[in-house]
Amino acid sequence: MSMNDAVRINAPVHHNTAALTRYYRWHARLYDATRWSFLFGRTALVHSIAELPRPPRNILDIGCGTGDNLLRLARQFPEATLTGLDLSADMLTRARRKLDRRRILATLLHQRYDCPLRPEPVFDLIVFSYCLSMINPGWSQALESALRDLQPSGWLAVADFHETRFPAFQRWMAINHVRMDGHLLPWLNTHCQPLLETPSAAYGGLWRYFQFIGQKRGE
Ligand SMILES: C[S@@+](CC[C@H](N)C(=O)[O-])C[C@H]1O[C@@H](n2cnc3c(N)ncnc32)[C@H](O)[C@@H]1O
Repeated sequence: MSMNDAVRINAPVHHNTAALTRYYRWHARLYDATRWSFLFGRTALVHSIAELPRPPRNILDIGCGTGDNLLRLARQFPEATLTGLDLSADMLTRARRKLDRRRILATLLHQRYDCPLRPEPVFDLIVFSYCLSMINPGWSQALESALRDLQPSGWLAVADFHETRFPAFQRWMAINHVRMDGHLLPWLNTHCQPLLETPSAAYGGLWRYFQFIGQKRGE
């Protein structure tokens, strides 16, 4: 499926797609070697998904990057159908290599996520892992699209940066395309029924990050 096949629901907003594509052209090479030291909570998020009342059968990982969460999900839910989506071809190339090496079947879509993928909701779990804080502007449009792509009573699972008390660090993260000002959790709590919400401190409180799992509220 290409961007043209997708169903547009909202007015277009200005996106940072070109800047992120350039950023990950370089960072894709260093990504796996470096991100373990600050993108905390990704493995724990996937483990927590096992607490859902039913194992997910059709999973979409938005901003799947180099594919580590897809590997974790495939291990944990071998019966599930997996789709990963990312705007960076450089990140997806690495994901494809890892998945193929382990003979894991997953559809990978190269596109920006800013509108629902399908006219009908087919996914019962949508994962955003350290992606939403990089969609600026457009994070709420991405979340609204995810709710449209989720089946009734489907689940959203999110791991991401939450906030920092240090303005200089916040500015540094903004240079790296990350918005870190506590904007995600209020939206998630308003639009989903939370099952799990665990904000935690990193590096003695330099920043806080969170894992959130919530169920789409009835319409
Ligand atoms: C910090 S990485 C996280 C990768 C992976 N989910 C993980 O947890 O390691 C953020 C990823 O989101 C992707 N991304 C950012 N905005 C996006 C958008 N609007 N649509 C699709 N992918 C996006 C980037 O290209 C990048 O691969």
